[in-house]
Amino acid sequence: PFLCSLGRISAGGVGKSALTARFVNDTFLSNYDPTIEEVYECSSQVDDTTYSLEILDTAGVDQFHTLNERYIKSAHGFILVFSLTQETSLREIEDLRRRIYHLRGDDRQIPIVVVGTKLDLAAEREVSQELIRSYAVRWGVPFYETSAKRNWNVRPSFEDLIRQMRAR
Ligand code: GTP
Ligand code: MG
Repeated sequence: PFLCSLGRISAGGVGKSALTARFVNDTFLSNYDPTIEEVYECSSQVDDTTYSLEILDTAGVDQFHTLNERYIKSAHGFILVFSLTQETSLREIEDLRRRIYHLRGDDRQIPIVVVGTKLDLAAEREVSQELIRSYAVRWGVPFYETSAKRNWNVRPSFEDLIRQMRAR
């Protein structure tokens, strides 16, 4: 088993905590409670091996944002989270991604997955699949469309990251 920490930073309320709670506890957090900083520990079996994970659920809201450099320097992998219902949240990930590569010495192999949340809110969707495809090609990282509420595609996105981390 090995330990990892996954930083996810984006606009407040995109669904980072709900995604993490779905993966760790198989529950849905329906109330919005802005995160300051939360660490989850869990174990997860992927391809017949059990991994111990330390998942750092970061703050999205600006006033809690300042600690992020420390996270970025120590994490073994990153889930970058945006909301499919908010196109600006996808654009914000661009800065974060640039910052990760900068702080990690431009290591292009650093494990990253990008997760779009709230797939169940189809009527509110702002981010097209076409736009996602163009980002995925440009960035060369996997994208997942998920719903923490419906439990769609949550596990596969974490498993992808675990497989990337294992390959390092
Ligand atoms: P900060 O901690 O402030 O950065 O926010 P966050 O990114 O952790 O967002 P959080 O997980 O708290 O979710 C914000 C709101 O969106 C909550 O009311 C959630 O219930 C809701 N939400 C999150 N994921 C989903 C989803 O997949 N579907 C729906 N319908 N709502 C969701
Ligand atoms: Mg949160």
